Amino acid sequence: MKQKKIISLGCESTAHTFGIAIVDQNCKILANEKDSVTTTEGGMVPREVANHHFLVAADVIERALQKSGVSAEQIDVISFSKGPGMGPCLKVGALAARALALAWNKPLLGVNHPVGHIEIGKALTNCKDPIVVYASGANTQIIGYQNGRYRVFGETLDTGIGNVLDSFGRSIGFGFPAGPVLDQWYFQEHEFLEMPYSVKGMDLVFSGLLTYAQQKASKQNQKDAAYSLLHTAFAMLTEVTERALAHTEKKEVLIVGGVAASKALRQMMRQMGDARGAKVFVPPFAACVDSGLLPAWQGLVEFRAGKKQRLEETAVNPMFRVDQVDVNWIKN
Ligand code: FE2
Repeated sequence: MKQKKIISLGCESTAHTFGIAIVDQNCKILANEKDSVTTTEGGMVPREVANHHFLVAADVIERALQKSGVSAEQIDVISFSKGPGMGPCLKVGALAARALALAWNKPLLGVNHPVGHIEIGKALTNCKDPIVVYASGANTQIIGYQNGRYRVFGETLDTGIGNVLDSFGRSIGFGFPAGPVLDQWYFQEHEFLEMPYSVKGMDLVFSGLLTYAQQKASKQNQKDAAYSLLHTAFAMLTEVTERALAHTEKKEVLIVGGVAASKALRQMMRQMGDARGAKVFVPPFAACVDSGLLPAWQGLVEFRAGKKQRLEETAVNPMFRVDQVDVNWIKN
């Protein structure tokens, strides 16, 4: 059946990236423009990141519209990520999306950022009912759909796995993000150092592991400590993912979030998947990391499923959880 033509514009600003994307009903990407904060040393300060987003917003919107060749009249729905994320940054995206919706008289939807990661990941990899490994800077969750919600089967009890890698990198002099360099080191010569492995039921704790790796890195070879940190953290994540697969009897794993770019993580997940007959999916890099694609596609999915929001329902929510969303677009 031919799908009704829908064009959706999404605005992303939960963390380091301000992004605007435009997609159609077939998840064809008409534009995906963004501007991200990086540093050569040190981490991110929320107020400074929000200021960056404020300064680049108009330019990114303009570029996205030009690249897509789409006019304001052709857009059916405007969405933005309303959480979770850094409050000052979320507000910039919400403001930009509201301004466009009001100026162009379009429906406005605030969507959940992790749900956006999941749905764009599913659409671009064609997987149907995965256990989702959402691994990014601030977030680390093992998620799966059951009875009208995305349920969290396991999650970090302290910090996100990406933050662990960035904090470790920062302590040995790298800027943000440090993950890509550490991932390259993973495949170089190294010695494995035994490190704290902290899985509590289905949840994960990373702070003890990070402190231990930082202490080892100051005394011994940094590459050994980096390898052992990645290996231990990813093994913890893989163990919980495997138990979620066993519990739910699902046969697919979808890795999303910035840490999905890690070859080391993909390799470990694939080894586990091969051993138990589960297929591992990773979306193209541009859809793993934060971008306007997430809210653009998620907004389209919810718009198509008939969701509507009044303006007061579009307030940002820095603590917005993936399991708070009523998933009315998946039919059991
Ligand atoms: Fe994200």
